[in-house]
Amino acid sequence: MRIEPDTKDWTWVLDRPCPDCGFDAPALDLSRVPQAIRDNATLWEVVLETDDAAVRPSPVVWSPLEYACHVRDVNELFDQRLEQMLTEDDAHFANWDQDETAVEKDYLGQDPAAVAAEVVAAADRVAARYETVGEADWDRTGTRSNGDRFTIDTFARYHLHDLVHHAHDVSHVTKRVTVASYDAFADDYTAGVGGAADEVRAAIEEFAGDLGPGARVLEVGSGPGWDAELLEAAGLSVRRTDITPAFVRRLREAGHEADVLDPLTDDLTDPRTKHVEGTGYDGVWADASLLHVRREDLPTVLAKLAAATRAGGHLFLAVKEGDGARFSTHGHVGAPRHFTFWREGPLREALTEAGWRVDRMDKNGDHTGQDWLVVRAVRAGA
Ligand SMILES: C[S@@+](CC[C@H](N)C(=O)[O-])C[C@H]1O[C@@H](n2cnc3c(N)ncnc32)[C@H](O)[C@@H]1O
Repeated sequence: MRIEPDTKDWTWVLDRPCPDCGFDAPALDLSRVPQAIRDNATLWEVVLETDDAAVRPSPVVWSPLEYACHVRDVNELFDQRLEQMLTEDDAHFANWDQDETAVEKDYLGQDPAAVAAEVVAAADRVAARYETVGEADWDRTGTRSNGDRFTIDTFARYHLHDLVHHAHDVSHVTKRVTVASYDAFADDYTAGVGGAADEVRAAIEEFAGDLGPGARVLEVGSGPGWDAELLEAAGLSVRRTDITPAFVRRLREAGHEADVLDPLTDDLTDPRTKHVEGTGYDGVWADASLLHVRREDLPTVLAKLAAATRAGGHLFLAVKEGDGARFSTHGHVGAPRHFTFWREGPLREALTEAGWRVDRMDKNGDHTGQDWLVVRAVRAGA
């Protein structure tokens, strides 16, 4: 079936955040453009390795393979246009019809492994060209065949939105791949990491002290279950949950109750008190788990957690500090996982809007040199 051509004028994305993918073009720090382009390519490499990369979710929506081909060609085109803008005064761009290109090049018939290599190479080339843009170059201009005029500044913002938006288009694959990686490496992760870090032990003592004995806590992403053990030893009652079936299986084998739970899509109500009106968790513990939730989904997850917690209840949240989002294979999980990095300002805003009062946001470094944002917040309304 034919895919409807995209005839929308997307230049509005330069003025305001995109409601679909969450990309905020006006807020983009231009010095981040080269790295953000390379990070985006990590996604396509991973997505193209999935068995159903060439399957369209519906007959009228591109498959991940077709999106990947498009992203490769966008990066090639933007590289040529950027070169024009850097070398010609008021460059004029030839027309490019993305839908015609998809048909002419038979995107759906391309070899995913070859596309994966091409997408990375094209991203690297255009990223390297952005690295040559000097302070005085950002105002250089280029005009499209339809008359839209860009500076290199607006061109870069428009370009990045395109990449982020298409990452959003295949986000169902992002979550699936990450969970499959944990599922395959749950034993290696458990053996390799080995236990809770000292800072986490201290945070657990403090959290338990604030909540008092017997308080009921929802843990999101229990993983091997070390934090839950310590939280219980400190007097709390913990509902262990994880999105990864292998972790839940391991917890059950160790004699614990545990549920497979996706905090974005599942009902978070405590099964123990679901028939009791007006109850909620006394606390939520989310240590290094919500860093796998996509940026545009975190506000929904935080609001669902707030709704499931009583007024005055406490939240512990730890995510990696940084910019952007990318796939990475490192540590004790030998397959790609997707990480979303956060900065203090946007994280505070997301928490506050979701109904949490942020009491503290500390920065902790780990043994790899990665900085973390560690949050203590209270469910507003108390
Ligand atoms: C780095 S491990 C941390 C596990 C545990 N909290 C700990 O500190 O040892 C990340 C955890 O997040 C879970 N996870 C992966 N994707 C997730 C998602 N989209 N939403 C919530 N949790 C997720 C994984 O299954 C895993 O248990």
